[in-house]
Amino acid sequence: MDSFLIKGGVPLHGTVAISGSKNAVLPIMAATLLTDEPCVIRRVPDLSDTRFMARILESLGAQAKWEQGTLTIRAQKIRGYADYDLIRQMRGSICIAGPLLARLKEARVSLPGGCVIGARPINLHLKGFEALGAKIGIVGGYVDATARKLCGATMFLGGRAGSTVLGTDNVMMAATLADGVTVIESAACEPEVVDLAKFLNAMGAKISGAGSPTITITGVKKLHGAEHEVIPDRIEAATYAIAAAATNGEVTLRGARADHLRAVFDKLDETGVSVERRGANLVARRHGRLTAVDATTLTYPGFPTDVQAQMMSLLTLAPGISIITERIFESRFMHVSELARLGADIEIEGPSAIVKGGRPLSGAPVMASDLRASAALVIAGLAAKGATHVNRIYHLDRGYEHMDAKLRKLGARIQRVAE
Ligand code: EPZ
Repeated sequence: MDSFLIKGGVPLHGTVAISGSKNAVLPIMAATLLTDEPCVIRRVPDLSDTRFMARILESLGAQAKWEQGTLTIRAQKIRGYADYDLIRQMRGSICIAGPLLARLKEARVSLPGGCVIGARPINLHLKGFEALGAKIGIVGGYVDATARKLCGATMFLGGRAGSTVLGTDNVMMAATLADGVTVIESAACEPEVVDLAKFLNAMGAKISGAGSPTITITGVKKLHGAEHEVIPDRIEAATYAIAAAATNGEVTLRGARADHLRAVFDKLDETGVSVERRGANLVARRHGRLTAVDATTLTYPGFPTDVQAQMMSLLTLAPGISIITERIFESRFMHVSELARLGADIEIEGPSAIVKGGRPLSGAPVMASDLRASAALVIAGLAAKGATHVNRIYHLDRGYEHMDAKLRKLGARIQRVAE
């Protein structure tokens, strides 16, 4: 298992090219199952998650061809069964269920199972499928969804933590080929949902309201092939902006979209970090001393849970007390004990972490536990004095394209250690 060896204390400087969005492209890849015609997707990040999704689609009978960031997928003849060994390795793959149900009127997909950041049930996905008329059975750890036909319906998809991103995606995809009109209320408003709806409409679907809490889908008989360029990854952009601030450097985020990151940039501004437009790009840099702030994760357009860990790393450097409250996932503080190994002072009180910031960090060996926690450890290692060894970086490779190469281009002293 590879690891990163980081020698900290170097301010990052230069330009980083933001890749296509992982959380937009995974459901878009699944959506290609809705047609037997070829689909061309551009700006597909080279990640273990996207490679894995392609493998899952191929296991269903589709062909996937990669050409430097462009993926051509053709799901001419497919089957409706995806086994446990594949699905358990990537939760996001649950979003094949909606397209399979829509196209084949049957889907047998393994339940994704537990996750370190929370229970992550799929009850809302299944509630949506049932509202469209599907029969749902859970047998031997598999979801068995069948339908003689799917019919449009109005449904409320809000849950314990508000809207669900992949739940909205899954039901939206299933409704594209249903008879009649579907209205999803309390739909997720994330930019990744909007990007999926844009792709589906390019395939001939009739979707309106994506990006708002009410999405309307008028079913059509058939969908066709389409071409699409994926939006830039807002979470990757936020990660590099925070790394620039944590090292007291200045980084240009080439291709990032400010309109997708308002809550993050607003919180960074409160902390003493500006992200300004310069020409076509955004530039992140710190203005002197950092300021302690409070932050609470919310569904979009609120502060994203996928930036919570990285923000915590930054706030360990801000003198004073910062309180970070996680409202989306039940146990997304795996990075706290690892940051403590670098000298951070953080206490967990229920859904909140109380960060006593301002003490310099010093390098140490640490263990990655999940994708965003790993990014937080890399940021802390870049800011720390001495050497930090981040183990199990396979978590990072799931969601950050060529992170070590991109950081080296910004002047970081980081190397990948193959083991
Ligand atoms: C997506 O996961 C992202 N993954 C996650 O990013 C992200 O953290 C999350 O949305 C929230 O923004 C992908 O897009 C591949 P949810 P998703 O359904 O859709 C509860 C990353 O780091 N819930 O919006 O699985 C759930 O338990 C990853 O890139 C139900 O109760 O998340 C959670 O508490 C991690 N029942 C909350 O809703 C359901 O049926 C939000 O989850 C579905 C969800």
